[in-house]
Amino acid sequence: MPKRDFLAIPDFTAAELLALLGLAARMKSGAYRERPLAGKTLAMIFAKSSTRTRVSFEVGALQLGGHALFLSSRDIQLGRGEPIRDTARVLSRMVDGIMIRTFAHADVEELARYATVPVINGLTDLLHPCQILADLLTIIEAFGTLKGKTVAWIGDGNNMCNSWLNAAGSLGFELRVACPAEYPPDPAILERNAARTAVLVTRAPAEAALGAHVVTTDVAALMGQEGEAEQRARAFKGYLVDEALMQRANPKAIFLHCLPAHRGEEVTEAVLEGPQSRVWDEAENRLHVQKALMATLMG
Ligand code: CP
Ligand code: NVA
Repeated sequence: MPKRDFLAIPDFTAAELLALLGLAARMKSGAYRERPLAGKTLAMIFAKSSTRTRVSFEVGALQLGGHALFLSSRDIQLGRGEPIRDTARVLSRMVDGIMIRTFAHADVEELARYATVPVINGLTDLLHPCQILADLLTIIEAFGTLKGKTVAWIGDGNNMCNSWLNAAGSLGFELRVACPAEYPPDPAILERNAARTAVLVTRAPAEAALGAHVVTTDVAALMGQEGEAEQRARAFKGYLVDEALMQRANPKAIFLHCLPAHRGEEVTEAVLEGPQSRVWDEAENRLHVQKALMATLMG
């Protein structure tokens, strides 16, 4: 069987995505006792900081009987200019899977092209598919299904927003994106998914949030965009998720945030810590979906 990668949500069919989420739920319930990673190693390359991604993959690999190696790109030869394609081939001779978090999505695609073991995208400037798996599981826990649900994305058309578009297109739920004109989602990803499901792009958070089942946002500047923070703060004025915005949503709506959050910038303390917030379940769900993903690709 050829190796499979997970670089983007559409790398899996809708049926495969739902099966993966079902497996994650089974793992979370404690009913799953298998150790499909026994004797196996995941190499984790990080060119950016991480708490949730690193810990979920590392703990998850251990719980599945395997092992994870933390490789900061500052410390491995990749950071001194060893080509990605060489790194891919060398690691493939020693490990059973590679997770990578970096800046350019093209670098992850190159790694996957040259690696002979599965490659997992742990976040690029373009996409953050592993986070979306956790978010989808959190929605299913809250509502029992994704069917008929509406997700409102408020803020930057960033890696999370692009991955929400992919998820909506793959799984057929409605997505509304409220973003400033200067910070839209990736045009190709938007076009592809708007052809598959109901997608609204608006400048008005109040329009996006109206009746939504999920309201979600993220920081205004990605890791690596800190230099643009001031200019972005100006553009994102009016894109704050506060209690007034949550009141426009469905009465049972939940609030999601991939974290880390900047309280008072993209979301208020009251919403983040409030009764509709599911952010801690969402963070925990990173562990369960990452385990399901490793079991599926490397088991
Ligand atoms: N949400 C997320 O990916 O968190 P980390 O940056 O801590 O991995
Ligand atoms: N979307 C943000 C946060 C992800 C953890 C980023 O890419 O920096």
